[in-house]
Amino acid sequence: MNTRDTLYVKDGNLWIGELKATELAKRFGTPLYVMDARYIAEVADAFVRAVNKGGRGAVAFANKAFATVATAKLAAAHGLWFDVVSGGELYLVRQAGVDLKKVLFHGNNKTPREIEEGLEAGIGYFVVDSLNELEILDSAAKARGMKQKVLVRVNPGVSAHTYEAVVTAAPFSKFGFDVHGDAADVVKDIVSREGLEFCGLHVHIGSQIYDHSSYDTAIDIVTDFMKKLSEDGVATDILDMGGGYGIYYTDEDPKFTPERYAYTVESIAARVREKAAEKGLSEPFIIVEPGRSIVGEAGVTLYTVGAVKDFPGVKKYVAVDGGMFDNPRYALYGSVYSAMIANKADRPAEEKVTIAGKCCESGDLIGKDIPLQHAETGDILAVFSTGAYNYSMASNYNLNAIPPVVLVDGDRADYIVRPQTYEDLLRNNTVPEWLTK
Ligand code: LLP
Repeated sequence: MNTRDTLYVKDGNLWIGELKATELAKRFGTPLYVMDARYIAEVADAFVRAVNKGGRGAVAFANKAFATVATAKLAAAHGLWFDVVSGGELYLVRQAGVDLKKVLFHGNNKTPREIEEGLEAGIGYFVVDSLNELEILDSAAKARGMKQKVLVRVNPGVSAHTYEAVVTAAPFSKFGFDVHGDAADVVKDIVSREGLEFCGLHVHIGSQIYDHSSYDTAIDIVTDFMKKLSEDGVATDILDMGGGYGIYYTDEDPKFTPERYAYTVESIAARVREKAAEKGLSEPFIIVEPGRSIVGEAGVTLYTVGAVKDFPGVKKYVAVDGGMFDNPRYALYGSVYSAMIANKADRPAEEKVTIAGKCCESGDLIGKDIPLQHAETGDILAVFSTGAYNYSMASNYNLNAIPPVVLVDGDRADYIVRPQTYEDLLRNNTVPEWLTK
């Protein structure tokens, strides 16, 4: 556990904000996602300060990491922009009432409908990722008499040191245009279009990255590309360096504070400014797009321990009332987590257990070999760093309800996503008349 002011052990219990985890579990039930508002605000503030140190920039929160109306409002109140990747996420930021000029629309295959919705909403920027999109966007913008601002997603061909499913900028990725291939022609094409205004470039090299050198290499390559464009008379006013900063999941990972995470943003921005100056380019407005590092450690999932199955000397299963429907990351990526029995928080983690979910699959685990206090039925289990890509990737598999989300701010805690009912689970079910006869 990466302890902080709002996540700590006191009187034998785990506390989140000024609230005992077991009290939250009692009041709201389990499984329960708990999000720490103060932590989100602290990271957001630190990131905004960092990107603006020595120049101009913005932090766009990658909604895909955790998308709720309440947290979008919180993020906007702390000066964040937004990265959306679907009509649904666009709808969410509209419902949250954020400044739509500070919204970037990403995605490698935006549908014609999503493109229309983005134009209709008057969003700030489309991040163009394919020739197909470019055609649709140009004609839809022209039909509306608009000149839509765009960034172009480029692939610098850098392989970040992370797991394969989240590497996005290795050669032949499904994302972006190759800086060493067709990207320059695409930019020139955009410049010549009536419905589009070329504003800059976007790069996102992957996720859960600790190694700065991948960013440095990407910056060197993309600023070279900017120089090439400038020699052809095209200015890059904005450079969006994407997100991807690695966070703490287990004691194998660094235990960073918000300020230390912000140092990554500061270093990226500084290197962009330095390289732009070195290459005789005017300084771009720098956007960074973190998701995980803003919300990941803000989240703790609380479960109640049910069945405990011990195969002495081999394996011990501790089964909880959640599983891959609220956290599919072990099943998908073999992701690792740390956990604690919230009501035995000051006891030593003397066992190594497999935390199992309640779905009908052997692969439905939260993790293997997780150090834990001696677990008994009825204990409250806390799994840390679940704020990113857990709720946003949850499903109703086995018709389990997606757990509610509670936002904690000091001694306050309220639902930001209410519990699903059985009726919710069947809401869109319909029976054709011919089956009822
Ligand atoms: N910008 C773009 C264009 C992205 O595709 C992503 C993440 C981000 C920003 C934010 O990256 P972050 O700072 O959150 O790492 N489901 C996977 C992660 C997929 C990331 C997809 N793109 C997981 O659970 O680890």
